[in-house]
Amino acid sequence: MSQGSNITDHYTSGELLERLNAALRDDGADPSNPTIEALAPYDQFHGRGLDSTQELAAGLNVEGDNHLLDVGSGIGGPARYLSSRFGCKVTGIDLTPEFSDVARHLTQAMGLDGQVAFEQGNALAMPFADGQFDGAYSMNVSMNIEDKEGFYREIFRVLKPGGWLVLSEVSQGPGGAITYPSPWARTADSSFLATPGETREGLEACGFVVTGFRDNIAESKAYAAKVRDLVDRGEKPPHRAVSLIHGDIGDQAAKNMAEGSRNRCVIPIEVVCSKPV
Ligand SMILES: C[S@@+](CC[C@H](N)C(=O)[O-])C[C@H]1O[C@@H](n2cnc3c(N)ncnc32)[C@H](O)[C@@H]1O
Repeated sequence: MSQGSNITDHYTSGELLERLNAALRDDGADPSNPTIEALAPYDQFHGRGLDSTQELAAGLNVEGDNHLLDVGSGIGGPARYLSSRFGCKVTGIDLTPEFSDVARHLTQAMGLDGQVAFEQGNALAMPFADGQFDGAYSMNVSMNIEDKEGFYREIFRVLKPGGWLVLSEVSQGPGGAITYPSPWARTADSSFLATPGETREGLEACGFVVTGFRDNIAESKAYAAKVRDLVDRGEKPPHRAVSLIHGDIGDQAAKNMAEGSRNRCVIPIEVVCSKPV
């Protein structure tokens, strides 16, 4: 089995849309008329869900005529959010066919398909022209990518000179290996965590100028406390993507991630960089 199929198998259930529609109905939402808010627990498939997408957006300077690239776009929550917030065009690319199909379905159901499009494909060989995008972002994807240099170089290639990249990622911390399954990998074979230092050096070696670099440890702790409070009060946690997508192993993956964060095996980071003019 190739590494790519390990990864797509990990993310594929074959019944994601049915599960999502059932979850929306259980929440009292109408699956045929989804909204950003109703989908947010499920379509923001990264640490701290919509909160972290909103933070990423708050740091951007995006014009309505910009065209953004979402690398590893999942089922499209971040792309739809950014397009709705800025009125810009967003194109997403993702390796997992089922995710790309569900992303297109939801985008059409929300009437955003004139602005937001999804390609199924590999971030290491994207079907886009050189210098096509004003900006790019990637949320919780590089953990599945062994060839980090190829990943950064390919994003650099498709950005316009002066274009920006924001990476919001899970990095390797000092606490040792995380326990699997994790939300991004069933076993260590398809997990490729880089340390914060390796991430910065890798981006710079590919020509990016790093303009912002921070960890989100404090934000993650505060979010975990907020989730515990809600659950203690008998409410649903705000982020339910891992259970929805991973079904049987979802709860264990979420627990392993929480423990890995507490033990500093993983550290969430956000890196902002640009392609020189
Ligand atoms: C944890 S999910 C994050 C999805 C999305 N960025 C979000 O935040 O909602 C990781 C995604 O990376 C995608 N992915 C992994 N390796 C990839 C590759 N080589 N090229 C494109 N997408 C990839 C997976 O299919 C999956 O959708």
